[in-house]
Amino acid sequence: MIKIAVLVSGNGSNLQALMDANLSGEIVGVISNKSEAYALERAKKAGIETTVIEHKQYPNREAFDDVMHQQLLDWNVDLVVLAGFMRILSAEFVKNWEGKMVNIHPSLLPHYKGMHTHQRVLHTGDTLHGCTVHYVTAELDAGQALTQGILKVDLYDTVNSLADRVHILEHLIYPQAVEWICNGTIQHLENGQVLYKGQLLEKPIQFCQF
Ligand code: GRF
Repeated sequence: MIKIAVLVSGNGSNLQALMDANLSGEIVGVISNKSEAYALERAKKAGIETTVIEHKQYPNREAFDDVMHQQLLDWNVDLVVLAGFMRILSAEFVKNWEGKMVNIHPSLLPHYKGMHTHQRVLHTGDTLHGCTVHYVTAELDAGQALTQGILKVDLYDTVNSLADRVHILEHLIYPQAVEWICNGTIQHLENGQVLYKGQLLEKPIQFCQF
């Protein structure tokens, strides 16, 4: 059974969705870089081991990442799931976990990498928005996309309503993508290619909310 660690910094609603999903992998631990993250309470309630590794305690990014890396090795982790983890990871950490680390981002990548995605979508006047699960590579929000949840932007949408609507989609597509990795439906090959049901995945599997 695949062993999963979830990295969080905040509320942890995606962690909750993963814990509720009855995955065929096992969430063996949750790491937070913030001691006040509500995600830690959620994990504890579910009986999952937690650890706080505060980035402020370390002289640089590499030193912080080394401690996380060691914890992941101690837990024998096969898959690292970033769920609202608000730290940029060092190149070495990413290289160590390449093909074994996924993230969810609140936009339809490759559009709107980085922050404030809902605001930017509204500002541009896009009619479609959503979220993307992708493998993590050294370049920010640029790794191979696995799944996307897509919604239609409503005339009356605000930053808050879009955040809420995108979250609902996240809670559907993240557990699905993680389950596909756990049960081998999605495979990451050593050459960096990704297979879905044995076929080369050329574009993400899309779930539309309309
Ligand atoms: C989500 O919107 C996710 O897309 C982004 O961080 C947020 C985490 O939310 N990476 P939560 O902590 O899972 O509620």
